Parts: sequence; C-alpha cells; structure tokens
Amino acid sequence: MRAKIIGTGSCLPDKIVTNDALSSFVDTSDEWIWSRTGIRERRLVSSESETTVSMAVSAAKAALEDSGLLPQDLDLILVSTVSSDFITPSTACLVQRELGTCNAAAFDLNAACSGFLFALNTADAYFQAGIFRTALLIGVETLSKIVDWHDRSTCVLFGDGAGAAVVKAAPDGMIAGLQGSDGSGGDILSCRGRACGSPFFHADASPGCLHMDGRKVFQFAVKKVPECIQSLLQAAGVDAGDVSYYLLHQANSRIISSIAQKLKLPLEKFPMNVESRGNTSAASIPILLDEVHRAGMLSEGDLLLFSGFGAGLTWGAALLRW
Ligand code: ACO
Repeated sequence: MRAKIIGTGSCLPDKIVTNDALSSFVDTSDEWIWSRTGIRERRLVSSESETTVSMAVSAAKAALEDSGLLPQDLDLILVSTVSSDFITPSTACLVQRELGTCNAAAFDLNAACSGFLFALNTADAYFQAGIFRTALLIGVETLSKIVDWHDRSTCVLFGDGAGAAVVKAAPDGMIAGLQGSDGSGGDILSCRGRACGSPFFHADASPGCLHMDGRKVFQFAVKKVPECIQSLLQAAGVDAGDVSYYLLHQANSRIISSIAQKLKLPLEKFPMNVESRGNTSAASIPILLDEVHRAGMLSEGDLLLFSGFGAGLTWGAALLRW
C-alpha cells in the first residue's frame, strides 16, 4: 500500500506585504525583487492570533474536511517546520491537541524547504511497512520571526503560511519517492538556535536569524532539482512529458524556469504562486498543491511530480497519481 493524497488545505496570514512596503525600510526596490525572484508580495503574520500552530491547524482542518476523514481517523500527524512556536511540545502535538484527537502518533521533522517531501516519503514508508494507514502532513512556517529584517538579501524572499494534505494507504497514489541530504553544505543556508546561557557556560552568540549565500543556493537548486526529477522519472519508468504538473518548491521563479528549461518541458507544466506568496519554505509545496487542487486544475489519474530543495542541504521528490 502506498500514500494517496485524499484532501488538501492551506492557510495564509491576512496581511499582504508588497515589495514597495519593504523598500520603505530596506534599500531595495520592486524592480530588483521582481526581476531577481518573481516575487511581488508575500503574506506575513501580523497579530497574536496568527501563529505557526494556528496556521497549521487551519490548514489541517481544511484538508480533513476535503478528505472526508475525521481527526480521530488519523494514525499519524507529521509537521515539517523550521519556525515552531515552542521547542517542545512539537507543533504536531500542539496541532493534535487543537484537533481534539489522541489516536495519532505526532511529531515534527526539520528538512527546511524539502520538509513536506520528507514528510510525504516518511508517511509512505510507514504505509508500505503496514504500520499506519492514514496521516495528516503539514508544512508550516512563520519565517518572518527568523528573518533578519535589516538584511535586504534575505528579508525580501520569504513569506509565512501553512499547507496540509491528508494521505491514506491505497493501492495507487505514490509511485516513487526520493530524498537526500548533504550536511557539508549546511553553512550556505542556516539559522542558529538558542545559545547556551547556563551558570556553567555562557556562549557569546548572535541571535538566530536566517543567513544565506543566495548565489550558492541558486547554483545548488538548478543542478540538484533536475537531477532529482530525472532519476525519479527513470526509476519509475515514466516519461517526463506524461507528468501533468511539476509542483516545485516556490523559492524563485528564475530557478523554476531554469529547471523547466533543463528538462526541456513547457513552463505551463510548472504552476507557480511565488509571485504572491514568496518563499514559504516547508509550506510552499502543500500551499501550491491546495491552490492548484481548489482551482480545479487536477483530474483523477493525473501524474504529479513534487520536488524541492532547502537548508541542510536537503532535497527530495515524489511522483504520484492524483
Ligand atoms: N535589493 C537590492 N539589491 C540587492 C538586494 C535587494 N533586496 N539583495 C541583494 N542586493 C544586491 C547585492 O548587494 C549585490 O550588490 P553588489 O553587486 O553591489 O554587491 C547585487 O544586488 C547582486 O546580488 P546577487 O546576490 O548577486 O544577486 P543575484 O542575482 O544572485 O540574486 C538572489 C540574489 C535572488 C537571492 C538569488 O541568488 C537567489 O534567488 N538565490 C536562491 C535563493 C533561494 O532560493 N533561497 C531559498 C532556498 S532554500 C529555502 O527556501 C529556505
């Protein structure tokens, strides 16, 4: 039995922040951001009620409703995030509490922007092993709390939001998945955790903000994602042209265009929402999936290919039938 997606949901903060709004406090411009990234605006949390957990719960409720399952039907809740509200309990346990169920095992995983794919592949592995039969997968980020708002080279790129999918064990669904990591590249995209401040040792560390070598990330993405997609298609024996849509991590439209070009595929097969969402890290693929699904773009039996890359370094892909 493999993972089949039976419902999707998403949640975005209310506040829309345009490129012009950013240029009022960092030295940037709409022209620079748009031409380098394809981003015009992003959603950012702007009230106490908008948190990593609240967005995850809203997305989860929408996905459950879409799937027809109830919270108590879930065997597993997996949340991928790098911006949880609490170090512990996990966001997954906090979501579980809000959903009012205790039947599921719940835990978080951190694979940055590849996180949703790691969650999907993990659920699929549990299903193949016969351990669980249903799962709620969530990618959620409040990146605005870890971004350095004085650093124009990063703060213009990111957005907040959550996306969710309910999956169940089925004979069809996932066809193939892959994921990988290269810890030696961790420095090019990182965010330091809390420093030690005990009576026995006080580390002199700057507060944790996202730090990135954008050019190196760009080079990594345009090389790794096409490789990943090609090896997945080859392993599955599927022709690239037979995939209805490639739902890629929404970091930058130039990266996505370059991948489409390398794969010699038309850009129409690569839906994008980075223009209005920015890069929402682990949330980007499930938000895009939900938007594409709710726009009526998917038909039963369509082949979908997800692929992403992120801090770690990490990368992943999944090929499935809708
Ligand atoms: N506004 C105006 N100028 C800027 C800005 C800004 N927001 N940011 C940087 N610049 C300047 C730089 O200081 C530099 O100036 P200099 O030439 O005087 O030194 C100039 O613009 C060019 O900077 P580059 O870094 O060379 O710009 P580049 O064309 O490479 O684009 C970008 C930068 C958009 C970050 C690109 O490298 C990129 O998209 N990289 C991938 C980023 C990414 O995908 N990150 C997330 C992936 S993983 C995850 O999602 C967590």
